[in-house]
Amino acid sequence: MGGDQMKKGFLKVLMLVLSIFLVGCGGEKEKTDGVQQAKAPQKKVIKMSMKFVEDEQTAKTFHQVANKINDRLKDNLEIQVFTGGQLPIGKDSMEQVVGGANWISVDGINFLGDYVPDYNAVVGPMLYNNFDEYLAMTKSDLVKNLNAEAEKKGIKVLSLDYLFGFRSMLTEKEVKTPEDLKGLKIRVPNSQLYMLTLEAMGANPTPLPFTEVYSGIQQKVVDGLEGSLMTIYGTKIYEVRKQVSLTNHLLGVSAVTISNKVWNELTDEQRKVIEEEIYNGSVYNTDETVKLEKEYQTKLEELGVKFNEVDAVAFNKAIENVFNQFPKWTPGIYNQIMDELNKIRNK
Ligand code: G3P
Repeated sequence: MGGDQMKKGFLKVLMLVLSIFLVGCGGEKEKTDGVQQAKAPQKKVIKMSMKFVEDEQTAKTFHQVANKINDRLKDNLEIQVFTGGQLPIGKDSMEQVVGGANWISVDGINFLGDYVPDYNAVVGPMLYNNFDEYLAMTKSDLVKNLNAEAEKKGIKVLSLDYLFGFRSMLTEKEVKTPEDLKGLKIRVPNSQLYMLTLEAMGANPTPLPFTEVYSGIQQKVVDGLEGSLMTIYGTKIYEVRKQVSLTNHLLGVSAVTISNKVWNELTDEQRKVIEEEIYNGSVYNTDETVKLEKEYQTKLEELGVKFNEVDAVAFNKAIENVFNQFPKWTPGIYNQIMDELNKIRNK
């Protein structure tokens, strides 16, 4: 091989090595008209989806939480809040989480219960006397173990503490006993726990997305619903039904969840900020809920809504057997929950 040929061969190899090197650096630099330019770091966008409408406190709280997270994480992460079911909610929202989308679901704990059934037992009927008992339960080892189970299924639980009040009946006629619910079609979220609870209480439970409840009542698809004061006032559903009967049968509370895969891809700083703001938001949300429930009762009364006490003993007796109707729950889970609750009550 002559000297010239050797030089040419060497140059070719050098060009090849250089081009491989430049392709390798493609993520960092972009070529525009022959000039290398630094690319802005990619901002991660996470969509947060919920059923709550803008006028409900939970939606207001999450706008605030997202703003704080976005402010603190500036250019590298943005949480976008979608309220009122603009994006998939319920089961469909949870599927986004499990499927690894950049997604935060804010929805009923029952949808988490579809993956780890014992969560439903923790929010079973007539367990808690007040919010504090429930909030202590979510910090217990029992619930921490469920959160660890959820992680194995690809779900990171960010909070179970977004309360929106105990749920009661909203119907046309006054309800005092289980007898009064006989033959009434009562809207419930799409959940076996709600179906069995309302059935035990004497009603005909009818699952329906909340977005269809107002028209559902007008068109007589359902006779009434069950929900918290926050829901009744915030969604204006009181316009079509005026009797609240205080059964307080289930706790209105949301699970805030994200894909475990997405969570693990975030930086330590991003995880810290999200955790802190979601926690602070939950404390604020509970304080607001306690305050607003009183305010809303007065406002609802002014709007012609009547509040009725019920025969609590009769309703408690009616739901006694509900806890025995879930073959997927861990045997003895009710007793475990009651032991935990007794510890909480005796503290
Ligand atoms: O916006 C609706 C919300 O307040 C209650 O929804 O499905 O838990 O009754 P749900």
